[in-house]
Amino acid sequence: MERIGIVGAGQMGAGIAHVCALAGLQVIMVDSSSKARAALLPAVQTSLLKLVRRGVLDPDAQVAAVERVTVAADVTAMADVDFVIEAATEDVAIKRAILQELTSVVRPSCIIASNTSSVSISGLAAYVDKPGRFIGMHFFNPVPVMDLVEVIRGLDTSDACHDATCDLARMLGKFPLTTKNSPGFMVNRLLVPMINEAVLLVQEGAASAGDIDAALTLGAGHPMGPLKLADLIGLDTCLAIMQVLHRDFGESKYRPAPLLREYVDAGRLGRKSGRGFFEYSREFA
Ligand SMILES: NC(=O)c1ccc[n+]([C@@H]2O[C@H](COP(=O)([O-])OP(=O)(O)OC[C@H]3O[C@@H](n4cnc5c(N)ncnc54)[C@H](O)[C@@H]3O)[C@@H](O)[C@H]2O)c1
Repeated sequence: MERIGIVGAGQMGAGIAHVCALAGLQVIMVDSSSKARAALLPAVQTSLLKLVRRGVLDPDAQVAAVERVTVAADVTAMADVDFVIEAATEDVAIKRAILQELTSVVRPSCIIASNTSSVSISGLAAYVDKPGRFIGMHFFNPVPVMDLVEVIRGLDTSDACHDATCDLARMLGKFPLTTKNSPGFMVNRLLVPMINEAVLLVQEGAASAGDIDAALTLGAGHPMGPLKLADLIGLDTCLAIMQVLHRDFGESKYRPAPLLREYVDAGRLGRKSGRGFFEYSREFA
């Protein structure tokens, strides 16, 4: 494996680019937004610089890693990649369109993975020419820090595709855990309903966002409270995941909290927009 393509240069795409470049892979990033394209290299540079400051990365290695990343405006740049990871906005129509385009551009041997948090892998596979080469490769935020990669097998994912994906995860220093396709996979099925419940507590005025988070950090040993975590994930992504759980399980317990929907409608998306349940300095906006 030498060249990897990543579609979507947002917070996850940038993190995946960081770990791939650090592992010595050539990285080709594609994003439809010129703003996201312009922000990508500075973001990767800054996150790699943190490793230099901590003394775990040589400054020359940091420069070399950044040089391995290139940015393009459309997926035709992916013609020669060995593996491509779709990490665009959590919107099924966007993902389907990207996969259809990728299928006609990448080599027949190229594995196509999606970093989706909740969209059905078997459903997305229908938009790839050969569903055997399609798989879920779900990284966690922040990618350079979190060890887990959930590997999600669709109905038709081949063993070769699965094994190559696990190998790539290990090459990136991650720990792959495999699950069958089901709504929310493993982690988000547990995590996001808890976040939704925390939003309902805020909505009911039961306690402040700060106190709800402190309750979970002090009382349950969580490293970060659910609302700060929601801001980190992105409230739009949390809402999209709850909508998938609600629709696919058909159970009212997964109904998205109205306050979560209201914040998303208002553009309060969390850390990436500067404001969610908490406020962030421009450094994080
Ligand atoms: N945020 C998290 O904590 C987290 C964790 C794991 C997985 N994910 C998943 O990763 C994916 C990306 O999430 P994110 O948090 O990076 O979102 P983000 O909003 O930070 O970035 C999404 C990027 O996709 C780009 N995009 C949209 N349409 C596109 C298109 N047609 N072609 C190319 N680029 C396009 C946008 O311009 C944007 O830069 C989602 O599927 C999300 O569910 C997110």
